[in-house]
Order: sequence, then structure tokens, then C-alpha cells
Amino acid sequence: MGRVNFLCAVLGLSVISGAMLPVAQASEGKDLHEKHCQRCHDDGIYTRKNPLVLTYPALGERVRFCDNAAGAHMSASQLQSVIDYLNTQFYKFDKP
Ligand code: HEC
Repeated sequence: MGRVNFLCAVLGLSVISGAMLPVAQASEGKDLHEKHCQRCHDDGIYTRKNPLVLTYPALGERVRFCDNAAGAHMSASQLQSVIDYLNTQFYKFDKP
């Protein structure tokens, strides 16, 4: 492999993995949410008229609270991907 080809391959790979990362995280959050979070309420609760959660930090607190209630014991990074999933999909808060 020539030098230029090699460089192209390295650049190409980093572009691909860079582009795929957010998608992987988004689907992790979605999967975790499907698995742990739909026993007591469905998605409708996130868009109800008088939502409990009004800010991004409050969303984080609520997800941790409900993680406890669910007995899911998610890791910090799993919690973060659920928080980001809910924020992207429903709440759309500006991240502080
Ligand atoms: C054991 C039952 C239970 C489980 C399991 C559960 N929740 Fe909840 N969740 C509740 C209840 C009850 C409320 C509403 C509390 C209220 O209205 O005072 C709620 C409310 C919420 C809200 C706030 C909705 C709003 O009004 O803005 C979020 C966000 C939320 N849950 C996220 C989650 C996530 C994420 C999971 C999975 C980790 C989860 N919940 C699993 C019981 C549960």
C-alpha cells in the first residue's frame, strides 16, 4: 500500500467511526429505555401537559430517580445515554 493510500485509509476510518459514535450512543439509550423504563409509564409521560421535568439537570435527576425505582442499576454512562435519548427525542432542552 502506498503512503497516500495508507493515509486515506486512516482518515476514512476515523471519519466513519467519528460519524457512527453518536448513532451508537443514541441507540444504546433507546434500547436501555425500552428495556428498563416502560414498565410504569410510556413515552406519553415525557410530553404530558404539566411535565415534572423542566430543565436538563432536572431530567438527569429524574432519570437517576427512576433508575432506582426501576431497580435497573445503570452505569453512569448508560444513564447519560438514556438522558440524551430522552432529551433528543422529547424534551429538547439546551444542554448547560
Ligand atoms: C417503578 C415505576 C417506574 C419505573 C420503572 C420508571 N419510572 Fe419514570 N416515573 C415514574 C412515575 C410514577 C413518574 C411520575 C411521577 C409524578 O408524576 O409525580 C415518573 C416520571 C418520569 C419522568 C418525568 C416525566 C415528566 O413529567 O416530565 C421521567 C423523565 C422518567 N420518569 C424517566 C424514567 C426512566 C428514564 C426510567 C427508566 C430508567 C423510568 N422512568 C422508569 C415511575 C417509574
